[in-house]
Parts: sequence; structure tokens; C-alpha cells
Amino acid sequence: MTTPKEAAAVLSQPININRLTLKNRLVMGPMAATGASREGKPTAQTIAFFKARARGGVGMIIVSCSGAARAIAETPFAGGIRADIEEFFPDLAKLATAVHAHGTPIIGEISPSMGRMGRPGPGRDVISASPINVVMRGAVLGMPIPGGEMATPVPREATVAEIEGLQTEMVATADRLHRAGWDGVEIPAIMSYFLASFVSPRTNWRTDQYGGSVENRARMLVDIVKGIRERVGPHFVIGLRITANDYMPDGQGPEGFVAIAKEVEKAGIDYVALVYGCYESMNRMPDRDGENLVDNGDARVFKRELSVPVMLSTLHDPLRAARAIADGHGDLVLEARQMLADPDYAQKAIEGRTNDIVRCDRDMLCARRMALAMPVRCSVNPRMGRESRKPGELAPLNRLVKAPIEPIILRLTRSPLFMGLVGRFMKKPKGDKHLD
Ligand SMILES: Cc1cc2nc3c(=O)[nH]c(=O)nc-3n(C[C@H](O)[C@H](O)[C@H](O)COP(=O)(O)O)c2cc1C
Ligand code: SF4
Repeated sequence: MTTPKEAAAVLSQPININRLTLKNRLVMGPMAATGASREGKPTAQTIAFFKARARGGVGMIIVSCSGAARAIAETPFAGGIRADIEEFFPDLAKLATAVHAHGTPIIGEISPSMGRMGRPGPGRDVISASPINVVMRGAVLGMPIPGGEMATPVPREATVAEIEGLQTEMVATADRLHRAGWDGVEIPAIMSYFLASFVSPRTNWRTDQYGGSVENRARMLVDIVKGIRERVGPHFVIGLRITANDYMPDGQGPEGFVAIAKEVEKAGIDYVALVYGCYESMNRMPDRDGENLVDNGDARVFKRELSVPVMLSTLHDPLRAARAIADGHGDLVLEARQMLADPDYAQKAIEGRTNDIVRCDRDMLCARRMALAMPVRCSVNPRMGRESRKPGELAPLNRLVKAPIEPIILRLTRSPLFMGLVGRFMKKPKGDKHLD
């Protein structure tokens, strides 16, 4: 795979996922950068943002959504779509219609809870498979952190009633999206969120029916998939998003995670999308030319063990993406940041116009803004997040006021000196369980 034309020939091949035929192998990944309102309602900006990517030729779009009320209440980030309530049904339907107008399927990534990454609120503690929190050092996150490290609150072990309640909400959300004309849902057992906490013995110490064996650790995922299948029938796409390797010394490699994926596959999923690492190993996030799931062989384990299509990730260069597919590491490639940087990425890649692609420079401005609860923007695409505005049109008043302050905050939070000072005045949360 040495020329853009050869890469284009691979990437432009259609592929079937359940009853859908995707026109090519490139998929837009879920990002909490949807332009939804503060309440989580899809807006004109949401529609313009996703329409631009659908028009830009991507084979399928996955949208970050809440699957249960808890996910929205706990999230430390803004920008997800609220799919867990009936109130926004007409807006969810409008979004599906807008994306379908370009022949592009739309899938909702539905999350039940932020789990170990959740924020407690009045009268609401955070829950997880077991009481173990997330500890992230500045060096791992690639940014200075007040006090040198960040520890999330220790969650409480979720009760069986809470697990079953979240399952019921997830099924109801999938049903809502099905009725709203969406093509499927994706269930995320990734990063350090709720569902991920069940799948690895490192974060699941339970002794009940949700802990111990592979079957038990996969039980919640399996029950969600079975519940959705029963409710909406065989033709609605269900995907599993799963960590391929958590890169933790006491963690789990691809063999452990694929055992879970195989268990969930039996319940009736249509694809598996792979994610690299977790919050505690963010420093392993692949760089532009660095090691990734393909080079280190992790993806191949999933491809070998599963029958459903496997979605790779973080292969921004179309030549690398095509080579990974041609060499049998996976069947599709998910692009997230690259889709912020260039909405026409897919069309350019499948036409072999690789030199025209506006490349994501991986400076992580988008993620830093998300972490600081600012609207996501992209440093190489000034139109990103403003797709609904005509060029030259003034921003709403609240944006005009906030926009000049945001770069100052971003600069300050990049300064080790400033963050060190903040750390001296911050109270350390009590009772956090540090795992080294
Ligand atoms: C701004 C931003 C928001 C994201 N939000 C989500 C999200 O809501 N759900 C999720 O599963 N992944 C989320 N991700 C992770 C991406 O889906 C993807 O896994 C990651 O960026 C690596 O892929 P890439 O190299 O193509 O960007 C987000 C990433 C970014 C940069
Ligand atoms: S802000 Fe930076 S890392 Fe994020 S999509 Fe744009 S170029 Fe890529």
C-alpha cells in the first residue's frame, strides 16, 4: 500500500453491517462535540456539524449520547446529546433525517453512567463495579495538574437494582433512537467509565453474578444487548466499543478484553470498535507516527477471534488506514479528531486526494477545551463548531463575551507554575484510593 490511489481502492470498498451497506470503510467516531444545547438538545449547530461530515462522504456517523439520566447528571464534560428522555424525540428524528439525506447511517453511542469518571452531586454519589477511583498524573495526561495529580472520588459499588435500572434505561434509549429513525446504537465499555469497570478484574472485585468469571464480567453488556434485541428486533445495528488493552501493570491485555467481546458477540452485536488505553494510561495514546493497535498486534487478536467486523482507530493517514485493512487487522477505520479537522476527509481519502486533506496536528486543543467545559473548537479548522453560522456572521452575544476569555484560561492551565499555585490552595479529596 504505497500510493494514495491504492489506499483509495481499499477504503472505498462498501461493507455490510447488519442490514446496512456502508459506502466506504471510514467511520466518524463519537465525540462530545455535538453542539447540543446546555440541556442536551440537538440544535441547528448539531445538524449543521453532522451534515457537513455526512456530505463529506464518511461511511457512517457515530454520535455521543446519554443512555441514562445518570450519565448526564455525572458527566464532567459538556456537549453530549441527551437521548435518554422523550422530550427531545423530534430533534433526534430531525438529526437522523439530516444525516440520512446524504446516504449516511447514524448510530448513537449510548452511555449509562460515567462510573469512575463521574462527578457526585447533591444526594447522588458515584457508582462503579467496585470502589476504586481513577488517579491520573500530570505526566500521563500531558498537562500540568494542580497538586501534580488528579484523583476522582471513590465510587460506591453499584447495587444489583441500580445495574438493572441502568439496563432498563439503556434499552428504552435504544428504542427511542430506533423510533426516531436512527440506524443503531453503540454500547461503550471504554476508558474508565461505568461499563468498562465491569470487564476487567482490575476494577471489578465483585463476588456476585457481575464479578469473577468472564461470563459474569460481561453480564451487564450481554443483558443490555439482549434487551435491545428483544425490544427493537434483529435489524437495528448494535455495536460494542471496547478497550483493546488498558496498558496498566495490573490490568488486562487484548486476550482478556476479547474474551469479553466474544461473550457479547454471542448476544447479537454487529461490530466491535476498539479503543486504546484508559484515563490512567492516556500517555499511551498514539502519536502521529507512533505505535498503535495495529503495529503492536492488539487489533489482530480481535480480528482473529471475532466474526463481526472490527473497527480500528487513530490511523489518520489514509495510507496507514488502508494498509491496516488490507493486512487483515480490521475491517473499518474510525476517525474522530481527523473529522473535526477536515469534514471532507473521507471524500478526499476515497478519491486518493491525500494532499488536499487538512491534517489533525494532534495538539489536543479540542480535548482540552472539552475538559474545561468550553465548546469544542479545532486549531486547524476555524469553521469547526460554527458550521451553522454563515461565514462572517457574528457569534451569539454570550459567545462574543466568553470567546476572548477562553484562550487566556487555556494558556494559564498550560502553565505548570500557575497550576502548581492552584494546587497549593486546593483541598485534597478525602478517602481517595490511590493505586500506583
Ligand atoms: C473532543 C473529543 C471528544 C470525545 N468524546 C468522546 C465521547 O463522547 N465518547 C467516546 O467514546 N469517545 C470520545 N472521544 C474519543 C474519540 O472517539 C476517539 O476514540 C479518540 O479521539 C481517538 O481517535 P482519533 O485518533 O481518531 O481522534 C472524544 C475525543 C475528542 C478529541
Ligand atoms: S484541535 Fe488539534 S487535536 Fe483536535 S482535531 Fe483539531 S488539530 Fe486535531
